[in-house]
Amino acid sequence: PIPIFTTVASYREWRHKARMENKSVGFVPTMGALHEGHLSLVRRSLAENDLTVLSIFVNPAQFAPHEDLASYPRTLERDLRVLLEQKVTVHPSQLQSSTESCSRTASAVFLPTVREIYPLGISQDVSSQKGTFVEVKGLSEQMEGRSRPTFFRGVATVVTKLFNAIEPTNAYFGQKDIQQALLLRRMVTDLLLSHPSPQNLHIVPTVRDSTDNLALSSRNAYLPPEGRAVAGTLYKALKSVEDAWEVGKTKKECIGIGQGVVREMIERTKSGDLEGDLGIRLDYIEMNDSADFEVLGDEVTKESRVKNTERVPVILSGALWIGKTRLIDNVLLGDV
Ligand code: PAJ
Repeated sequence: PIPIFTTVASYREWRHKARMENKSVGFVPTMGALHEGHLSLVRRSLAENDLTVLSIFVNPAQFAPHEDLASYPRTLERDLRVLLEQKVTVHPSQLQSSTESCSRTASAVFLPTVREIYPLGISQDVSSQKGTFVEVKGLSEQMEGRSRPTFFRGVATVVTKLFNAIEPTNAYFGQKDIQQALLLRRMVTDLLLSHPSPQNLHIVPTVRDSTDNLALSSRNAYLPPEGRAVAGTLYKALKSVEDAWEVGKTKKECIGIGQGVVREMIERTKSGDLEGDLGIRLDYIEMNDSADFEVLGDEVTKESRVKNTERVPVILSGALWIGKTRLIDNVLLGDV
């Protein structure tokens, strides 16, 4: 059985032992309801570290008062089962001190209570919060931060606490939430954290449904069947934007094409091809610089970007409402 630590103090004894044995610790923070996206982070950590710790903590501070904290899926038993099914075989060439390949599974689970993480308690209402919070100014107001103004403050605060508790050698985040991952790398740099160091905060590609490329997400479980049937349209729209960008169209033209893909799908749901009024609405499709998250100008093209800046990487992202569920996805134009 895998050790499950509910307090920082008990985890620290285990961590101390790992340090004495010179073992690297990979860390995968999650809010549970594990799916293949989470598990791809776990497998990457298993392959690259002697030990792997997964945390499950539904963090109240990153949910606004009107958001889904109470109904967020909680599936602990299943999570532990699928976690323990993950096995990675590591070749001797990747091991420093062994001539035989070894098989690795997760080493520990960190499952703190809310009081353990927030000793003074935590309100979802920012104006009545007490204690210490972390803000990454300049990167938390754009993109997702526009519609969720206190979200990244909650994420940065809990991840700082988790990093201080876990002291990971390496940490793994999904490209699915690209703004979160890049903002946390900025935070680790700014706060001079060493566990993990900025270069040991890894971004892992988005895992998608194999039939329609919908990015896997715990919140997909909220989708009604008719909504699930059209959810792949967000990625399809982003890919059409990428294609237009690659052949030299301006940002404005590209986004227009992406919006058209979504509009066409909405028209089809209305004309009765698909059942009912699903309440589908495109929140946005946008292109942002991956260094400062600033919105690209309307007339920017791939070519002008290469010429005028060295910063080629662009985040092409979108958000789509299907009823009460908000889906997000992104594609990188160039590597970050
Ligand atoms: P959660 O949504 O549970 O996601 C945990 C990690 O899994 C994140 O790094 C996320 O980007 C990654 N992930 C989710 N779906 C993915 C997919 N389809 N492919 C690849 N990776 C995917 O993100 C959070 O929790 C929280 O904000 C957290 C960082 C734990 C702080 O509370």
